[in-house]
Amino acid sequence: MKNYKRYLVTSALPYANGPVHIGHLAGVYVPADIYVRYLRLKKRDVAFIGGSDEHGVPITIKAKQEGITPQDVVDRYHNIIKTSFEKFGISFDIYSRTTSPTHRDTASGFFRTLYDKGEFIEKTSEQYYDEEASQFLADRYITGTCPHCGNENAYGDQCEKCGTSLNATDLINPRSTLSGNTPVLRSTSHWYLPLDKHEAFLRNWILKENKDWKTNVYGQCKSWLDQGLQPRAVSRDLDWGIPVPVDGATGKVLYVWFDAPIGYISATKDLTPDWEKYWKDKETCMVHFIGKDNIVFHCIIFPAMLKAEGSFILPTNVPANEFLNLEGDKISTSRNWAVWLHEYLEDFPGKEDALRYVLCANAPETKDNDFTWKDFQTRNNSELVAIFGNFVNRALVLTQNYFRGVVPKAGELTDYDKEVLAEIANIKKNVEESLETFRFREALKEAMNLARLGNKYLADTEPWKIIKTDEERVKTILNVALQITANLAILMEPFLPKTTEALCKMLNIEAIDWELIGTSLLPEGHKVNQPSLLFEKIEDTTIDKQLERLKQIKIENERKNAKAEPQKPNVSFDDFTKMDIRIGSILEAEKVAKTTKLMKLLVDTGIDKRTIVSGIAEHFSAEELPGKQVSVLVNLEPRKIKGIESQGMILLAEDFTGKLIFVVPEKKTDNGAMIR
Ligand code: MF3
Ligand code: ZN
Repeated sequence: MKNYKRYLVTSALPYANGPVHIGHLAGVYVPADIYVRYLRLKKRDVAFIGGSDEHGVPITIKAKQEGITPQDVVDRYHNIIKTSFEKFGISFDIYSRTTSPTHRDTASGFFRTLYDKGEFIEKTSEQYYDEEASQFLADRYITGTCPHCGNENAYGDQCEKCGTSLNATDLINPRSTLSGNTPVLRSTSHWYLPLDKHEAFLRNWILKENKDWKTNVYGQCKSWLDQGLQPRAVSRDLDWGIPVPVDGATGKVLYVWFDAPIGYISATKDLTPDWEKYWKDKETCMVHFIGKDNIVFHCIIFPAMLKAEGSFILPTNVPANEFLNLEGDKISTSRNWAVWLHEYLEDFPGKEDALRYVLCANAPETKDNDFTWKDFQTRNNSELVAIFGNFVNRALVLTQNYFRGVVPKAGELTDYDKEVLAEIANIKKNVEESLETFRFREALKEAMNLARLGNKYLADTEPWKIIKTDEERVKTILNVALQITANLAILMEPFLPKTTEALCKMLNIEAIDWELIGTSLLPEGHKVNQPSLLFEKIEDTTIDKQLERLKQIKIENERKNAKAEPQKPNVSFDDFTKMDIRIGSILEAEKVAKTTKLMKLLVDTGIDKRTIVSGIAEHFSAEELPGKQVSVLVNLEPRKIKGIESQGMILLAEDFTGKLIFVVPEKKTDNGAMIR
């Protein structure tokens, strides 16, 4: 690892228009926190920066929907996000927000510096305006059809379907999200950062000097650079944001993507008066943890801003991750398709590390990945419980049982003992190499290998079989097993901090130091405490509850998106009167063998009692049907279904989610009553 004097680690500032979900955690906060905890264990000077991104159109839209102010919106979500990060153990040195006074002054000052240096160009252009709302339609205030993929709900700044970044005037059929009206064009003037002017510098810096960046990051940057950079507007006509600090710029604010990354600087200022050493000294290693949708802002636009300002360093690395899906579907705040951190913390108290483990083990590092509750359960039960927990428990319980919790003296070590102990240092080296190259999945897997090794050591040496015959050997075995346990506690701290805390209590040790991994950590005679289980099994019923919740959300979303089917062609009155529809009662019901959908019914139609086969078996059980009054088309040509003659048809309504319900009389009435 190159020896930097200090580290500045930033994690993307989440928009304060909704809570944080597992996608944010897996992509940004869990890897950032692992990295930072590792650096701290190595006694490096590190500042870990977080905060809420509180400007931008999604926030004003949400405020309008709920009839509250944008400040109310960001206050609510900032608090939810901040608290849930704390409970989850994301160890920010500061968690700030972009509505803070420090930030307003810093972002405003930054703009003013670039303005005074002549780093902007001012341009007048035609932009969409909503005459009813008397407002320009920046970014998400406008939707329309994407010219690239035909998505009818693309935003003014981006199409979420194909990922293309757009200008509002590219949209086909533009509509105002405020009124639904077709907007008009009006001229307005804005400040632009001439990225084209910085292109040569950026090409050299990224494509030549930063060849070691992750391939997904490098590739995206290269594709942007190869398309040629254009000037980007850094102001907007909006009333929520930081006012443009220039005379005559009333009604104009800084573009959210101009102010948000400056939030990293403001937060560092709030953290320490000595903030400049983190931002202006070449010996600082600055690392931005982000998701892939943020790459262009952190690798091209923000560096161009920093370069134009002149006194700041540029990031050393930007280890962006791909996306995490949930049960096969894209995570979405607006569709409520997510596992929300604050809800997880309530549903799984004390199981913070299980989620960290699964999100890291399955992190979307090189490609999009899927989170499933089943996989969560399996990894918890067969890895954390069965490997890590099991090993630690066996080592500690045996020590209590055989030696009343006192670390026994190691006698002469066998070759096998020596091999096992030597392996710890190897594992340490592998974990370091992986962490320093941002391969967190690999790092965790390697760290788990120490628990695997511990398990194997006990299984191979079987101390429980020789305790009666060779107590001296058992002393050595348990000494070795306890050293592995204590090493495991340190090695796992970046990944599973709460587990390490609990394990250190059981081992009765306090300070931990990364560089001690591979050494003997527990002296002979040291007293360890009574063990308790580090991890608990997660039962099927717990997982089923989560799956059921997601199923309900799917149904709600389907209902929201569904439209009534278009009307069929007209029929004559005569045609209508030919149909004989009656009220009838179901007398008996029985599922048709070897089918999933069919139910054989005996129905009292008032005319007779007849058999009708109906495709309702997936919606009703045979037991609940007898006694129900229903509507029956009685003169439908009889037909054979699965060898049974069906004499009519039961009328049902199919709702927008595909659920069937009977069409029933408003109150109980006579069987045979005609419907007309
Ligand atoms: N709020 C943005 C998002 O969620 C991230 C902003 S990162 C910052 O995509 F650098 F601009 F702060
Ligand atoms: Zn598109």
